[in-house]
Amino acid sequence: MSSPVDPTKTQAWPRLADLFENFDPDLRAWFADDPERAATFTLTAGDLHVDLSKNLVTAEVRDALLELAEQTGVLARRDAMLAGEHINVTEDRAVLHTALRRPVSDQLVVDGQDVVADVHAELTKVYAFADRVRSGDWVGVTGKAITTVVNIGIGGSDLGPVMAYEALRPYGDAGPECRFISNIDPTDAATTLTGLDPETTLFIVASKTFTTLETLTNARLCRSWLLDGLRQVDALAPDDTADRAAVAKHFVAVSTALDKVADFGIDPANAFGFWDWVGGRYSVDSAIGTSLVLAIGPENFADFLAGFHAVDEHFAKAAPAENVPLLMGLLNVWYVNFFGAETHAVLPYAQYLHRFPAYLQQLTMESNGKSVRWDGSEVTSDTGEVFWGEPGTNGQHAFYQLIHQGTRLIPADFIAVANPAHPLQDGDADVHELFLANFFAQTRALAFGKTEAEVRAEGTDESVVTAREFSGNRPSTSIMAPELTPSVLGQLIALYEHITFVQGAVWGIDSFDQWGVELGKQLAKELTPAVAGDEVALAAQDSSTVSLISYYRSRRDGSGRSPA
Ligand code: F6P
Repeated sequence: MSSPVDPTKTQAWPRLADLFENFDPDLRAWFADDPERAATFTLTAGDLHVDLSKNLVTAEVRDALLELAEQTGVLARRDAMLAGEHINVTEDRAVLHTALRRPVSDQLVVDGQDVVADVHAELTKVYAFADRVRSGDWVGVTGKAITTVVNIGIGGSDLGPVMAYEALRPYGDAGPECRFISNIDPTDAATTLTGLDPETTLFIVASKTFTTLETLTNARLCRSWLLDGLRQVDALAPDDTADRAAVAKHFVAVSTALDKVADFGIDPANAFGFWDWVGGRYSVDSAIGTSLVLAIGPENFADFLAGFHAVDEHFAKAAPAENVPLLMGLLNVWYVNFFGAETHAVLPYAQYLHRFPAYLQQLTMESNGKSVRWDGSEVTSDTGEVFWGEPGTNGQHAFYQLIHQGTRLIPADFIAVANPAHPLQDGDADVHELFLANFFAQTRALAFGKTEAEVRAEGTDESVVTAREFSGNRPSTSIMAPELTPSVLGQLIALYEHITFVQGAVWGIDSFDQWGVELGKQLAKELTPAVAGDEVALAAQDSSTVSLISYYRSRRDGSGRSPA
């Protein structure tokens, strides 16, 4: 892999710096002077209608950003990614989540292997399994059909499946209910299992590495819960063979490490694989999405994949000036590196997308929260911003105050669909229209604000005029789609995957490793004996850690219960 280009040493960078220096954004004037502004800056990617016009961008800035992309080799790196080059250099891996959604008619040979054929062979297995569970052909050890699926995983093995399951609930009528256990906080397993019937519950242990402490601990807790529960109803003989038979019917696994799955006691025949070229946070469209396939069915999952692919094609082929992920990624660079933006809000006006911001936090922040470049040298500019958000309109009544009138610039993405999953009337009012009026109003208020003169003209007391003024010129992007279908959800996810890629490529970082999560894991392992009472291990710690662990030990009552 070639050395990263230092973005600050390109010709485009000082040009952008100059533009910023003399920048006097005035969205009111820009819209007044150019009736075509909305049309010029509105683009389409698949079914996504993306209005960039309320960003702090002019044609000149856009062109300079596109030059930056060209000069930092973003598109060449995109092509290298799509072709399966090992662009994840710190792990020496290809980055091929886009292969997960290529149609079966495609072929892509990477490291001597047709990865598209592999993907479809695995999908066929997952789909066949889903059909058996959904039809009642796959039964638990006592012969009862499966009604609940519990996905045990964390990070990318949880956030994608739970977000997509929530987003596509209207498509889940014919499938089992899904629940998700991720946290090693025992409360998570205890509360998630409450009320479930072991005879009708299926567990999916989802872990790329099959070494993750949280997931393996929770999987063991769930196995005990299953076997204890079956014994309580006299459904299981008291021997290992019976245990194995029960686990075989109630546990399946998804992993790249199928040998470790077998060590855990899950029959490899009941395991679905994927590959090291799929990053955890890019894996919801691999077998990691098995819980989603069970919930919405193979046909809807195929539509979900087709949605990803439509945006992949757009990213691969659309001209730079019309390429939505490219432009959105570059705008983020503009805000982070020139305006000093530290955060970026994602505000879905679609209740079913309520876990989308949390999902994006891993995607964006685990990918671009880096201080060194892919050749190990220090980055030359700020990198990944903090992503956060909540669904509208709830956020309006909580934190929008700061976005509208605070001292920080917070670029915000607003996401909405034209057709609601639940069209409801309140008297004469279509409630979805009340909802969308808020979506349109918020982006307008952020862009155009309210001047002191306008506040005064409303007869406002002079003492509160400035408190009621809105500066405007607060950037937002509006993303709309006809409906939140499986395909549209796939398109949205792919859009943000590629935005993340573009930012990382400009900054010269490896957006596909995550070494920053390792130290904490290592220390947790080292500290476990001290927490459990090993005085020598405790004494080796710093005084703050000693004091905290001592507090814990002196207050803990010592009872350890299994989940009821
Ligand atoms: O600790 C971070 C991480 O490695 C994520 O990147 C990953 O999604 C998560 O842990 C879970 O990993 P696994 O799927 O291997 O259990």
